[in-house]
Amino acid sequence: MWSANVTQSEELTISSITASTLAKEFGTPAFIMDQADFYNRAQAWDIALKSAFGAHAGQVYYAAKAFICVEVARWIKDIGIGIDVCTGGELAVALAGGIDPAKIEVHGNNKSVAEIEKAVSAGVGTIVIDSLFEIERVAQAAKKFNVIQGVLLRLTPGIEAHTHESIATAHEDVKFGFSIASGSAWKAIEATRGHSSIQLRGFHAHIGSQILDTNSFDVSAERLIGLLARYRDTYNEELPELDLGGGYGIAYLPGDEALSPTTAMNALAAAVQQNCTHHGLAHPRISIEPGRAIVGPTMFTLYEVGTVKDVTLENGSNRRYISIDGGMSDNIRPALYSAEYTAILANRTSDAPTLSSRLVGKHCETGDIVIRDIELAGDISPGDLLATPATGAYGRSMASNYNHMPRPPVIAVKDGKARVILRRETEADLLGLDI
Ligand code: LLP
Repeated sequence: MWSANVTQSEELTISSITASTLAKEFGTPAFIMDQADFYNRAQAWDIALKSAFGAHAGQVYYAAKAFICVEVARWIKDIGIGIDVCTGGELAVALAGGIDPAKIEVHGNNKSVAEIEKAVSAGVGTIVIDSLFEIERVAQAAKKFNVIQGVLLRLTPGIEAHTHESIATAHEDVKFGFSIASGSAWKAIEATRGHSSIQLRGFHAHIGSQILDTNSFDVSAERLIGLLARYRDTYNEELPELDLGGGYGIAYLPGDEALSPTTAMNALAAAVQQNCTHHGLAHPRISIEPGRAIVGPTMFTLYEVGTVKDVTLENGSNRRYISIDGGMSDNIRPALYSAEYTAILANRTSDAPTLSSRLVGKHCETGDIVIRDIELAGDISPGDLLATPATGAYGRSMASNYNHMPRPPVIAVKDGKARVILRRETEADLLGLDI
């Protein structure tokens, strides 16, 4: 839940800097990021992939959508893993951070021709193709720039992953990829083989997000390998690569258990090996795309309390509403996915008895709730600081300017030093868009 260098004694402290020091220097709300923890998590996935798959390990592609800025792209380059981008904007950040284009993989179910041309001309290693139209578009772009573009086909293996409906991506009724069961995957294979400017290297599947068991990944591997076997049987040649996506779940609440890189990769390696043996196939290179599992636990959000209000409920009980200076503009996940978070008092400790509380934001919406039900100290009052852990993934990256709220900064902390890596938006930034 909390990143490795966070401790809680008198105050919440990260790498020996207290929450109140951070609030004073950088303001609130702010995303506070543990840089060493980010490195460790990214490296842990890389090590787990390599030790589980050995010579058959492909690439860890960090899923930029979880959170990216140019400084984090530089870290990715430094760590040496790859990156998955799904828009021209994410591609621009990855390139600005100096990531080797060969280690960039481009996703998206509706990449524009301009985005495809930008990717191909930048020399990206892989484009993951999502529709028949795109096969033509990528082939054209590759011809135009006189290259042979490596591609994977995104497939839907027909899996109901155990997660929230809006973040499950591999059942049949989704906008992504080509269905294996309906035969559209095979049509895509045939269409791809018709172009000499693209080279089909294998298949991709991403089954969903915040998945905590390994079973669905095993089924995905089984179905993709089944198709590799059919490909071999038909064309008498083997495709060398599978990308089995991201989706590995993390802990948000006390008592939650994350899926560890070692557990996840060892389970996947066993499933891949078993299915390859079953079909008599050579072991393909295996890549993965974790986003949340790398960046999620590395950040917490620091808020300041502005008001406290008691409301009597229909059953006569009391609910305390604690309003903080952010809300659904910096964390939309509770409203979108009923995601649950916890929070702690960050600037001091309290022995006051707890009260049944609701942590809410400052937006003009009843649904602007960060935490629906939480026991918090009864003496929390304006000026206190609260911190919500595990907001690194899909927090700042899904932040909005709703109600003309400037988006919060990201502050990286390392070895007792804190610095801005993504600055706070200002009202001037927002007004700058007006004509
Ligand atoms: N690869 C592909 C092709 C993806 O679509 C995604 C996420 C990932 C990798 C990374 O998944 P992760 O390891 O981070 O779970 N906004 C939602 C999550 C949407 C994920 C979309 N795709 C949330 O806040 O839960």
